[in-house]
Amino acid sequence: MTGASGVELELDREDFLARYWQRRPLLIPGAIKNFKPPLSRHQLAGLALEEQVESRIIERRDNNWVLHHGPFSNADYQRDTPWTLLVQAVDHYIPEVAALRKLVNFIPQWRVDDVMVSYASDGGSVGPHCDNYDVFLLQGEGERRWKLGQFCDEDTPLSPHDELHLLSVFEGREEYLLKPGDILYLPPRIAHWGVAVGECTTFSIGFRAPRVNDMVSRFADALLAQLDREEFYHDARLEPASRAGEIRPRDLERVQAQIQAALDQAGDNHWFGQLATEPRYDPFPDDDDLAEARISLRDGAGRLELLASAKLAWQQEAETVIVFANGDSREFPDSILPLQIALCEQWQLDPIQIKTALSDPAGSTWLDYLLESGCVYVE
Ligand code: SIN
Ligand code: CO
Repeated sequence: MTGASGVELELDREDFLARYWQRRPLLIPGAIKNFKPPLSRHQLAGLALEEQVESRIIERRDNNWVLHHGPFSNADYQRDTPWTLLVQAVDHYIPEVAALRKLVNFIPQWRVDDVMVSYASDGGSVGPHCDNYDVFLLQGEGERRWKLGQFCDEDTPLSPHDELHLLSVFEGREEYLLKPGDILYLPPRIAHWGVAVGECTTFSIGFRAPRVNDMVSRFADALLAQLDREEFYHDARLEPASRAGEIRPRDLERVQAQIQAALDQAGDNHWFGQLATEPRYDPFPDDDDLAEARISLRDGAGRLELLASAKLAWQQEAETVIVFANGDSREFPDSILPLQIALCEQWQLDPIQIKTALSDPAGSTWLDYLLESGCVYVE
């Protein structure tokens, strides 16, 4: 499968999803043949000098892990201890890094979070830890040794560091040396510990999964918005009370039945798409940029591009399509569906597709919605 970057992933996708995804790690040696990292360590260091870019340095000093937050200056890169620079959401800034997300386009797009890129000096590491999300660790420059350990849960002991959630016990079980173009897939919660062998860079294609807590809370909010506030617990045909003060099993059965009846009134499930497409950073264009984009669209913009930071998804309903854009949603007639799919697939619309959209009132509203929600830009 070829992504926009022209890179191809050597992987049996069905076998991977059936046997490894969310379940066990997989080393994919030579996952990308002749891999040329789309970003050098120097470019990465340059990016971490910028104010709006989220970056960290983790240093191993005197047997302690020391964390520094960016933005950094060139002096921060002069260290004589083993250190790692981690830059979050590099795909938002570098289109060639964003193109790496296409390697995993057999997994629903809304599950992908961002591409983090790290540089480590010889021996550099972020320490033994577990993450809550799936990740494809693609080796860029140089080599890194990955040790994999136990599956962690909320009882797994952590070392006493305020911000770095490092494991105090790491039960190493497997070890792999990754070379450029190799990928190590890790499911959530598996202990891992990567140590640079010489200087190296790693591209982490990270996934997102909403917390079940948040799903329950969004579901409840949506349900509460439509329930009748004036409906109360009711117990017609009440059985006489025999033991003073008691809440009886039969009373609790009524509670359960009434809650179930309320749950059955749940309407749409749009809260899920809204939650799943929540943006990482404030996505909204300022008023001037929006006005300018609207004018250039009206005057026949040549190109419309999906922003790499855009969280865009959709779901089909009876005769409509619900578009989820950066945490918001709107309903459209299903005439916009081919364009919606094209945009999600190609990350852009060509002049003919823009014209097609503008020739239909629903298409025009859809384009305007995408501009307003900070998902696309026009040129
Ligand atoms: C790294 O790239 O150094 C760390 C990635 C990780 O362990 O999650
Ligand atoms: Co990790």
